[in-house]
Order: sequence, then structure tokens, then C-alpha cells
Amino acid sequence: MVSKFNTFYRHIIEQEREFPEATGQLSDLLADIALACKVISLEVNRAGLIDILGFTGDENVQGEQVKKLDVFANDILTNVMKQGGHICAVCSEEEVSFIPIDEKFSKNKFVSNKYICHFDPLDGSSNIDVNVSIGTIFSVYKRITKSGPGALEDCLQKGYEQVAAGYVIYGSSTVLAYSAGKGVHLFTLDPSVGEFLLSSENVSIPKKSRIYSVNEGNYSGWSEGMKKYISHLKMSDPETDRPYSSRYIGSLVADFHRNLIYGGIFIYPADVKNLKGKLRLMYEANPLSFIVEQAGGRSTDGDKRILDIQPESLHQRTPLLIGSEEDVLLAEKFLKEG
Ligand code: AHG
Ligand code: MN
Ligand code: MN
Repeated sequence: MVSKFNTFYRHIIEQEREFPEATGQLSDLLADIALACKVISLEVNRAGLIDILGFTGDENVQGEQVKKLDVFANDILTNVMKQGGHICAVCSEEEVSFIPIDEKFSKNKFVSNKYICHFDPLDGSSNIDVNVSIGTIFSVYKRITKSGPGALEDCLQKGYEQVAAGYVIYGSSTVLAYSAGKGVHLFTLDPSVGEFLLSSENVSIPKKSRIYSVNEGNYSGWSEGMKKYISHLKMSDPETDRPYSSRYIGSLVADFHRNLIYGGIFIYPADVKNLKGKLRLMYEANPLSFIVEQAGGRSTDGDKRILDIQPESLHQRTPLLIGSEEDVLLAEKFLKEG
């Protein structure tokens, strides 16, 4: 239960104050992200009313059709980031490459552009037209290079280097989840005052669940180990809570959020069509892995910890097994045994 009334901005400032060397820049940066997400939330809510839905006809760099709301979300996030002055590069699922940002965008001469941001501006975009929850995923790193606009090496850091990560889910209400390395905290947008208000502090994911989330339409293309694992979950055994329930929305953010609260395992494995899985390491897997570990859960690609993977390209994909610790451990065992 929440004992005090608190806003997102006040919460991140209080957390940052615990580090004497903190300059307040990270708080400002996260507040900028929250601001952009409030605007996206408003647009998501109005989308059905003002007829902005439908395909633009363009394809994004992943070869998928882009919808107008994806473009809108991408534009607002990149513009707010450029104007904020705290980052030297922004990387987005919707952009071909990273966008370097020069120091001249810094708000004043004492503020350096020391951070990098990665975004999946609109996750679950195939669900936009059918009023199903969608989201925004973000992650923040410190730059490696010393000054000027950011370089590719700043953008391709391992996930464990994240200093903050989170997501916003545009559902029956708009919820922001974030971690700056000190637990996971949830905020609910109060649309009447336009503030994200603290709704849960130090969220922890149940160690074991009875829910699995996977696109079973891909079954025939899975490895033998993956097939055996899902068949195992369907067998009846009351002692281990089997059979598990299946829950799959098709918006990673929404599937992940439900599993974070109730417990569950989400899997997007490699298959014959997607040899490296479907989800993107930098925009989806890393930020959610940072969150799940902060909440006491586990995240791997079936072989190694997601946060330890050295990225080789911005749009790299990865298999993803993420959620309640005991469930992920068992899934890994099945995958390894094949
Ligand atoms: P995005 O809309 O950002 O491209 O992400 C879509 C992703 C993810 O949200 C979801 O978990 C997955 O695609 C669903 O894929 P399938 O339709 O193949 O199940
Ligand atoms: Mn996505
Ligand atoms: Mn997306």
C-alpha cells in the first residue's frame, strides 16, 4: 500500500538525492520522458475519435508497416529529448540509425549531454486499431565518449550498464513503471491533474507463477526443448500448479506488466522463421530485463543473461525468456536439454 501522496518527479528527485554526486540531470531527463508519454497517452486516447488511425503506407527499418501513431510517438519522444539537453544521442526502433545530438542543445553551459536514450516509441502497434493496450519502452545509459555528439559505441552498451529503464502502458489507465537501480515503482496518470501519481513502490514479481505468455501459433517452428516445455506446462499436476493458464495479448508491454504483477513467464523464442527471435535487444529486451531483475525476476535468451549480451547492432534481435525466476529457470533447463 502507498502511504504517501507522491508524484513521479518528486519520487525520482528523492531517489537521486541519495547519491551525493548527483546533479539532478537524470531526474530532469526522466521527467522529459514522462512528459512525452503524457502527450502520447492523450493521443492514444483520442485516436479513435479523430480518425488518425490507419497505415501511413511507409515501412519502418524492421520492414513492418508503420502506423500514424508510431510516427507521432517517435517524433514527440525524439523532439523532447533533443530539446531537453541531457542526451548526446537518441536511438529508436523507428529510426534507421541513432540520432546524434550536439552539446549546443544543452540548456545551459553547466549541463553536459551525458546520457543516451533508447526507445520503442509504440510497442504493440498491431493492436492500435482494436483498442488493446499498447505502450512505450525506454532505457537510459551514460555516454562513454567524453564530449560532442554521441557515437555508435555510446549506443551499443550492455544492458547491465543501464542507469534507468521503464515503460508506460496505455491501458484502462496509463501506468508508468520505472527503475533507476533502486527497485521498481509504478505510477498511474491522473488525467485530471496531468500527473503520474505513485501507486506501488518496490514492486516484486512472484518467484513462481501459473501463467505463460507465448505466441503458440509459432509452435511448429519451435525447437524440441521449447515444444516440450510448453507441453509440460499444460500437463495436470496440482503440486506444481499445472496446468498453467495461457495469457497472450501481443503487446509485449501489456503481457510483461500483467506478469510483473501476478507472476508469469513471457517467451518469444527463436523459431524457424525468426532464427534470433523477434524482439529487439536494445529497445525491448534490455529495458524490461533491467526492470524484471530489479523486481526479483529473471531474464535470459535461453543461454545467457540478457543484460550481459554485447550488442553488435542497434536493431539486433534476441530470443527472450522473462518473468518469475523459477519459471524462467525451468524453461532454460528444457531449452538446454532440447
Ligand atoms: P512493436 O509493435 O514495437 O513492433 O512490437 C511488437 C512485438 C511485441 O509487442 C509483441 O510481444 C510481439 O511483437 C508480438 O509478436 P507476434 O505477433 O509475432 O506474437
Ligand atoms: Mn515493440
Ligand atoms: Mn514499436
